[in-house]
Amino acid sequence: MPNILVVNGPNLNLLGDREPNVYGAASLSEIVAAMETEAERLGLKMRAYQSNSEGGIIDIIHNERGWADAIIINPAGYTHTSVAIADAIRAVRLPTIEVHLSNIHAREEFRNRSVTASACIGQISGFLSYSYILALRAAKEIIEGRIS
Ligand code: DQA
Repeated sequence: MPNILVVNGPNLNLLGDREPNVYGAASLSEIVAAMETEAERLGLKMRAYQSNSEGGIIDIIHNERGWADAIIINPAGYTHTSVAIADAIRAVRLPTIEVHLSNIHAREEFRNRSVTASACIGQISGFLSYSYILALRAAKEIIEGRIS
């Protein structure tokens, strides 16, 4: 079974409580539970992590690089700033999908640019928690060679 590493960045541990008008009502554990159900349906194995620090996110990517076949990442605020996370994604040479709950292109100008997306196959942004479900389906397409 293909292995999918799910990485969530800073403040996403507060989902459900944090600006629900922007990020939706689902908590991170509810999102992860829905992803687990979908992963099982798709025949994928999943490990999900969350870190509030840049180094923490990079360590997760490094530590799981031998296990994972693909990465789904929401770098949260680091999306717009982190050369180091983009470099970590490139370093491990795993197909990576960037995910956002909100549509970062329809928000403040500083959120319109993603530093990390250029290291990824593509970006899914604006479908609230459903962005993560779409990312799992895209991961399956990538792993099975229909998207590269
Ligand atoms: C986010 C968008 C980022 O701009 C923001 O800093 C987040 C969440 C999203 O999922 O919509 O923390 O990545």
